Amino acid sequence: MKNRLSRIIKPKDGRTVMLAVDHGYFMGPTTGLEQLDKMVLPLLPHADTLMLTRGALRNYIPADTDVPIVLRVSGGTSILNDELLHEGITVSMEDAVRLNVAGVAFSIMVGAKYERDTLLAFTEVVDEAQSLGIPVIAVTAVGKDMARDAKYMALASRIAVELGANIVKTYYVDGFEKVVESCPVPVVIAGGKKTDEITALTTAYNAIQAGAVGVDMGRNIFQAHDPVAMIQAINAIVHGNQKPDEAYQMLNRSQNARYSRR
Ligand code: 5RP
Repeated sequence: MKNRLSRIIKPKDGRTVMLAVDHGYFMGPTTGLEQLDKMVLPLLPHADTLMLTRGALRNYIPADTDVPIVLRVSGGTSILNDELLHEGITVSMEDAVRLNVAGVAFSIMVGAKYERDTLLAFTEVVDEAQSLGIPVIAVTAVGKDMARDAKYMALASRIAVELGANIVKTYYVDGFEKVVESCPVPVVIAGGKKTDEITALTTAYNAIQAGAVGVDMGRNIFQAHDPVAMIQAINAIVHGNQKPDEAYQMLNRSQNARYSRR
């Protein structure tokens, strides 16, 4: 368990840049990931872990790629369905072990109609993963009509921990310190919908300042104008303690240099 956790959260500084490209499990061919390998492989030198589904891992990522994998093991509904938040277990732990993963991720839906189903399925995953020494990341998904505030995020995150999560993935909100303070396991933030680069960098910076150990970010990286420059800038915030404006300047320099070479 500790060895796998140290492959996800880097022992040198206790931080992590997780690249999330699991969106296809409910969004299909998401913008930027239509040909997942072309997008993702150039980003991997700047990512500490890669979060994706087993289908994407099998079909797009060469077996000799040296990046710790966090495997999405929940799903079962799509963006076309009103029951979007009703996820169940989609991968056996046997297959997760066979795929040599560093961790697994499961979405829980606290406060949504199917809360009980997702929480009980989550504990099944925890039981099996625990017996195999595999860390479980609880993704505290938020429904369309649910409040995104510190009180709710703290509630969902703490429930995840009490049920056995080793890492909690949640969304950055004002007063994020409150979420981190009452969550005794490492917290990472999702990036959420694509926004402008400086806003995404500032969110990552604020989350780290509030005590998050890193990001598990997708669209704000792979839908950026220059995804490689963006993940480098995020990396500079998470591991290099850079401020958002410094990272943004770095992003612009790197972007300009790369485009002038073309
Ligand atoms: C959904 C997920 C994601 O697929 C992941 O969080 C998305 O990352 P981003 O919001 O940064 O695009 O876990 O619950």
